[in-house]
Amino acid sequence: MLKISERIDGIALSEIVAISEGAARMRAQGHDVLALSTGEPDFPTPAHVCAAAFEAMKAGQTRYPPTAGTTELRQAVADGAGVKAGNVIVSTGAKQVLANVFLATLNPGDEVIVPAPYWTSYSDIISMSGGKTVLLRCGAETGFKMTPEQLEAAITPRTRWLLLNSPSNPSGAVYSADELAALAAVLVRFPQVWIASDEIYDLICYSPFVSFAQACPALADRTLTINGVSKAHAMTGWRIGWGIGPAELIKAMIAVQGQITSGACSIAQAAAVAALTGDQSHIASRAAEFRARRDTVVSALNEIPGITCAAPDGAFYVFPSCHGVLGQKTPDGRLLESDADFCAYVLAFTGLAIVPGRAFGLPGHFRLSYAYALRDLQDGCLRLNRAVAALNVC
Ligand SMILES: Cc1ncc(COP(=O)(O)O)c(C=O)c1O
Repeated sequence: MLKISERIDGIALSEIVAISEGAARMRAQGHDVLALSTGEPDFPTPAHVCAAAFEAMKAGQTRYPPTAGTTELRQAVADGAGVKAGNVIVSTGAKQVLANVFLATLNPGDEVIVPAPYWTSYSDIISMSGGKTVLLRCGAETGFKMTPEQLEAAITPRTRWLLLNSPSNPSGAVYSADELAALAAVLVRFPQVWIASDEIYDLICYSPFVSFAQACPALADRTLTINGVSKAHAMTGWRIGWGIGPAELIKAMIAVQGQITSGACSIAQAAAVAALTGDQSHIASRAAEFRARRDTVVSALNEIPGITCAAPDGAFYVFPSCHGVLGQKTPDGRLLESDADFCAYVLAFTGLAIVPGRAFGLPGHFRLSYAYALRDLQDGCLRLNRAVAALNVC
């Protein structure tokens, strides 16, 4: 009988993937299903980026690349951040950067502070690396952001990392320079705590974006910035992300990566160089399109009795509260006790797939991705309205 390692036991398929796959199965059975559950831009990868990949293939860039990344991509990332190439590791997506850093630095029982709601993979990557996730509940009352008081109260002698994500998946919350500086004022007093700042949505931001490293240069010697091309350049399938941090940390992460995947795909790295150094006009136009979609979705959701939705400052998700519909009954008499009940009902009743807040560590909400065409978003809000209108108040 197969024995699963303790490291992996308990790590389930992500609820986002389970819901998206469930929706696809329903569609295959002939149901009218609309999934607004995935965090993937619906735009194509820019043509000049695809052309650079083709050129790289023709030029024979098809052999093992250096483990840490190609010279060209490391330099392009370093130039953008004002650091040296030795401060950069290129990996197979931002996800691998996260795996590298926690595998490289956590010992059993080491703690990582994660503000919730959080991207679902964080806690699984931390636990696979032997660490312990310490979740801090950050509700709508603080704009889904952590306060300096909360941070200080959560730090223990075992705390090794604070994992920040701005703009946030799933809430879209963006920390201002002042808010980051207030967190830094706590962190300077705890030298054992390093900061991993996941900024994968930095270019999809409707308020001024400030990187943690920019806002808090005094903590540069213990800050890792995580980013990549997946979201802003619509390159989710190319699997290129990077980490920027102190050379000593980057070296340890390269050692991990060298034994797992080696360097990231050489062709995708050439494409990423074109994304970073070539024409950037798609970024502003797509961010404007995302913003218009956000406005449409937020106002449509706030029209639905029992649903409240703040306008997020970045990324392409809304994270509305569904507290106002809990306690009501579905047309077939089932009581809605939780966000998961609500999302399951909406899927069964109208064919709309959305993800319950519990998947992100903050029940009572749901995540709807607006990285979809406007007509699908309008259709999704109508379906949600129909589902709520059919509920019976007990
Ligand atoms: C907050 C956050 N970080 C990292 C990632 C992973 O990015 P990549 O596609 O570069 O692995 C995602 C993808 O959904 C994300 O939402």
